[in-house]
Amino acid sequence: MCGIVAYTGNQPAKEILIEGLKRLEYRGYDSSGIFIQNSPPYLARAVGKVAELERRVWNSAPDGVAGIAHTRWATHGKPTEANAHPHTDCGDKLFLVHNGIIENYLVLKKRLLEAGHRFKSETDTEVLVHLIEAGYQGDLPAAVQKALLQVQGTFGIAVMHCDHPGSIVVARRGSPIVLGIGESASLAASDVSALAQHTDQVVYLEDNEIACLEPGNFSITTLDNRSVNRGTTNLEYDVESMDRGSFPHYMLKEIFEQPEAVENALRGRLNHAEAVAKLGGLESVQERLLQARHLIIVSCGTSFYAGLFGRYVFETLTDLTVETELASEFRYRKLNLRQGTVVLAISQSGETADTLAALREAKRKGALVLGLVNVVGSTIARETHAGVYSHAGIEVGVASTKSFLSQITILTLMALLIGRSRDLSYEEGHEIILALERVPEQIREILKQAEHIRQLAVKYCHAEHFLFIGRKYQYPIALEGALKLKEIAYIHSEGYAAGEMKHGPIALIDPKFPTLALALEDGSYERIVSNIQEIHAREGHILAITTEGNTTLGDLADDLIYIPRTHEAVAPLLSVVPLQLFAYYCGVLLGRDVDKPRNLAKSVTVE
Ligand code: G6P
Repeated sequence: MCGIVAYTGNQPAKEILIEGLKRLEYRGYDSSGIFIQNSPPYLARAVGKVAELERRVWNSAPDGVAGIAHTRWATHGKPTEANAHPHTDCGDKLFLVHNGIIENYLVLKKRLLEAGHRFKSETDTEVLVHLIEAGYQGDLPAAVQKALLQVQGTFGIAVMHCDHPGSIVVARRGSPIVLGIGESASLAASDVSALAQHTDQVVYLEDNEIACLEPGNFSITTLDNRSVNRGTTNLEYDVESMDRGSFPHYMLKEIFEQPEAVENALRGRLNHAEAVAKLGGLESVQERLLQARHLIIVSCGTSFYAGLFGRYVFETLTDLTVETELASEFRYRKLNLRQGTVVLAISQSGETADTLAALREAKRKGALVLGLVNVVGSTIARETHAGVYSHAGIEVGVASTKSFLSQITILTLMALLIGRSRDLSYEEGHEIILALERVPEQIREILKQAEHIRQLAVKYCHAEHFLFIGRKYQYPIALEGALKLKEIAYIHSEGYAAGEMKHGPIALIDPKFPTLALALEDGSYERIVSNIQEIHAREGHILAITTEGNTTLGDLADDLIYIPRTHEAVAPLLSVVPLQLFAYYCGVLLGRDVDKPRNLAKSVTVE
């Protein structure tokens, strides 16, 4: 949430900063701004996407060689130019960008107003720049440190002062900051995507640390003044994969990358001879894992639905008791973590504030805490005891697609690993492995139906409401399908366990309220057909996803999408794909910005 990029070196900063903002735009995109150190100092801010700022900056910005920039996802105050970052002090000497929330900003603001400071925005952030101004006596890091000690809440910040050319001070608590150190330049950003083109030497700042950047140099201390000795680490990052290629949108590109995402999730992780999974990232905790009795999966958004899938697959393949919990709820529960409890945090970004807080809470209470994360080196990946990377590659589209596929693939592998050390037989394990291996090719078959699904989107995209129903393994997929349609196409959609239809949602059914039914020929088939009958009897239109070769749904459903036959536990890896395409095409047909849907951000680093 909110993207920060900072540069000090010997090249004009504006190109580097604007390019960095574009790479961070997935974090928020309602307004943006840039400061370039120069005489006079240059500040520009614009409402809307980064392209707006770029238009404004291109001809007017000077060639100064240091600066900071920000792309915003509004929390306090509307997306206006005045509320966009960087914020400045009363003397217009200090410039600051911030990601996070200052919880005690009202108290601090009152105090600062009484001391004569003039505020120009409605943001919580602005108190920071005035606090720094109030404590500044010629030493910028000391003033930043003093200010941050008065602050409650979360921050990732970058600060510059006109009297300190080429110096940038950054600090973090709860919001990510990574440094990039080159030979004659230094950078800082909310994530490595904004640094990777410039250097492969990075340093991850930890909570309550403050760093000073000079061109090609950095130093770190803690907020309570202990010096930190940390070297750079080598970054492996595929800059090329940020390219959209011939696809009109990242979302479509990422949907089409799913066969490879599954291949990468499986690569080197299957042991046929023993019908088991090999997950190197879990080896260090293998003993504890094998003794585990209870599993709690915590996550948010699409990752939460992956967690719901996880519950079914762990219950099927292992003898663990499994709970799935929204991280935002879990973190505030009175937890009674019984002995042998494992908490698994699932997160694409590895930075989601609620998920991070949930895992810290579980860790404090003595649970073994594992991560299933896509972004290498992210905070959740670093704070868990052990974990597995999903290796989905960079996901740019704000709505998660290929990460979800990777997550549910790896959850199946984790369940297989634990299950085979308990009562799961070789045959059952091997059946799962064979089914998983067929998935990439089967997804390719489904993707060939993209045009058919686009035609269905033409037919249904003007519906104001949509219901998605599924049972057992297909229930989380119904929830995920509904989420995709609401976030991408802004169509009100609800996901329901099909068995709940008669307890409420059926009251909504009429010819204008279509239902998408996940009706695969699995153990729940007869029951979901009964639900479809009930909808049909009330003149509701039905779009059904079913198994290739199905001959019985033709009379009941208005439209059908077929997917290949597979193991019940593996079927979600296939059935979610047409739902993603359906949401994508509805969004495009309705003129939505599918890669950056309104009000959303990809990495939610505030509570
Ligand atoms: C945001 C994104 C979703 C994502 C959720 C959880 O809401 O828009 O696509 O599922 O955050 O993110 P995480 O990075 O923890 O998986």
